[in-house]
Amino acid sequence: MRPPRPFEAAGTPRLLRRVAGDHVEWWTETVGKMPAVYGERWASLGERSFRSFDPSRSKLAAGLARGWDGPLPAPGESWLYLGAASGTTVSHVADLVGPAGTVFAVEKSPRPFARLVAVAERWPNLLPLLDDAREPENYLDLVAPVDGIYADVAQPDQAGIVLRNAEYFLAEPSGSVVLALKLPSLGRERGPLVHLRDAETRLGAEFALAASVRLEPFHRGHYLLGGSRTTASRAGRPTSRGPPSRLSRTTDARDRPGTRLRPRRAWNPGPRRR
Ligand SMILES: C[S@@+](CC[C@H](N)C(=O)[O-])C[C@H]1O[C@@H](n2cnc3c(N)ncnc32)[C@H](O)[C@@H]1O
Repeated sequence: MRPPRPFEAAGTPRLLRRVAGDHVEWWTETVGKMPAVYGERWASLGERSFRSFDPSRSKLAAGLARGWDGPLPAPGESWLYLGAASGTTVSHVADLVGPAGTVFAVEKSPRPFARLVAVAERWPNLLPLLDDAREPENYLDLVAPVDGIYADVAQPDQAGIVLRNAEYFLAEPSGSVVLALKLPSLGRERGPLVHLRDAETRLGAEFALAASVRLEPFHRGHYLLGGSRTTASRAGRPTSRGPPSRLSRTTDARDRPGTRLRPRRAWNPGPRRR
């Protein structure tokens, strides 16, 4: 493996970029083990290993290539990933949160889930859950409060799915959401940008949104959007939308009776930081 020089930090410590000829490459410092997840390149620098983060394969990487200035997973954080498929982007999210972080990866389709499990065997901070992101109650006992939610479920009600999961799992007072939105899948009866504005309005009631970025030419008809809670955005939040009564956000799921952990691995992410 050739060392990927020269690298420069790019917004979050485990994300790196370098100029290669006339284009910019994105890399994540990995916590995983080979083989590659989707044919990405690997490189090493001393003890550290890196993976190329391909904008044509990942909408998050495409967002970076298109100037995404919104939230990104940071070392030590926990993220909930909805629509993990076979692990392409979620493995990079796990790289970004690093060995002290955790990624809960929800995927409802058994076929990609089987491949996701194989990836998780090599990424010790990635916890796969075979479930429906529309029904967060199902994994209430398996997911601890998270710092961020990333969603790429390609469903018409994706913003609603994210808000519902945020009610259950997103830590307060901060917490971020990032969505890859596939506008053609939102229905053709209205113009695609109407769907984008609709999602922005719904999320904007709760989060201070970054500028949404269009993912062309990497992913046709897709946008990346999202933001973080702020004191100001929370002040305008309807009081009726409190947390679900079944979950105390200050209570770690592991502390509750009846908590079921995935049998595949011992879960010990260490003390919570919030
Ligand atoms: C566009 S693919 C995700 C690609 C992936 N995020 C990546 O970048 O590597 C959408 C995935 O969402 C999953 N999905 C769709 N609806 C879902 C739901 N309600 N709950 C969980 N997963 C869902 C699909 O099975 C599919 O694997």
